[in-house]
Amino acid sequence: MPNLKGLVLAGGTGTRLRPITHTSAKQLVPLANKPILFYGLEALAAAGVKKVGMIVGETRAEVMAAVGSGSAFGLEVTYLPQEEPLGLAHCVAIARDFLGEDDFVMFLGDNLIKDGIVEFARSFSSRSSDVVAEILLAKVPDPHRFGVAALDGDGRVVRLVEKPKDPPSDLALVGVYFFDATIHRAVESIKPSGRGELEITDAIQWLIDSGYRVSSKQISGYWKDLGHPEALLEGNRLVLEDIERRIDGELDEESIVEGRVVIEAGARLVRSRVRGPAVIGLGCLLEDAFVGPFTSLGENCELRSSELENSIVLGGTSIVGVGRIEGSIVGKKAVIRKRKLLPRANRLVVGDHSIVDLA
Ligand code: G1P
Repeated sequence: MPNLKGLVLAGGTGTRLRPITHTSAKQLVPLANKPILFYGLEALAAAGVKKVGMIVGETRAEVMAAVGSGSAFGLEVTYLPQEEPLGLAHCVAIARDFLGEDDFVMFLGDNLIKDGIVEFARSFSSRSSDVVAEILLAKVPDPHRFGVAALDGDGRVVRLVEKPKDPPSDLALVGVYFFDATIHRAVESIKPSGRGELEITDAIQWLIDSGYRVSSKQISGYWKDLGHPEALLEGNRLVLEDIERRIDGELDEESIVEGRVVIEAGARLVRSRVRGPAVIGLGCLLEDAFVGPFTSLGENCELRSSELENSIVLGGTSIVGVGRIEGSIVGKKAVIRKRKLLPRANRLVVGDHSIVDLA
């Protein structure tokens, strides 16, 4: 696939994933202990992309620190700063010089495509000559949160609408788009939308209205943040479903690891049980603990005399003596513990936009 460049969008503020995104870029929120963005970069590399332009915004320092030159992914990353989030089509305009006349795949850094994009990159590279763009669509239960496609009887895209109140279908525009250089004319021709952004959806509609052909492919195994904890846990489950067992840490004789579990180096299990799929990060300590399915425990966490299931816990957190925790998302360096002193009351120091459900 010659000259397919990547345009990765890693700007924006991440309000939908608060409070986790108060201290972390949304694209760096981990699923199975790996930032969402890294799955996208791996998917691009696997599809033969070498050069990536990465749009970065407010959180650029953190994104740049995590991705670096891109060499860890076999990519060469050029950072393209965006001063204000003025829309996805605006990102294409910013990347105009980087992209030149080449074909490119635009990948939104908060989107996860479980099975990657190799097949779609291949079909785009062998497209018929009148096709100028290929979009991916996924059936979603809540299309009003997405760009939505209307297809004709032959499966051709006839209309795209951004976040419609009354969606014409349940086919959402997935955040991965393949374009040839014709898109630059479209981007120059459109006006900002009602929300003040240059919408890529409008640019693609311009292509269709101008008589160009836009092909589409349906995918499954799609996830993007939808801004409530359950959605983040769902993304975590999607990724954990695919992990392979690897035990690099240490277990004492009374510990048991069942099924597809990753225990990273330096992690220690003492009188504990982990039932997969689950990942236990570098340097964690589990003592008299149970970790149940669909749980990700970040680096250097401590879980003692407690049980954890279907949860995401970020690095450096300590959970001690609290019974069973399920369906939870816990940020970095948090402390959850049983209070021994009287009065027997719940005492909380909770950050902005946090949610605490007490049993
Ligand atoms: C953007 C696009 C939307 C697409 C979505 C996928 O929405 O405008 O058409 O369905 O990405 O992630 P945003 O995330 O900016 O709300």
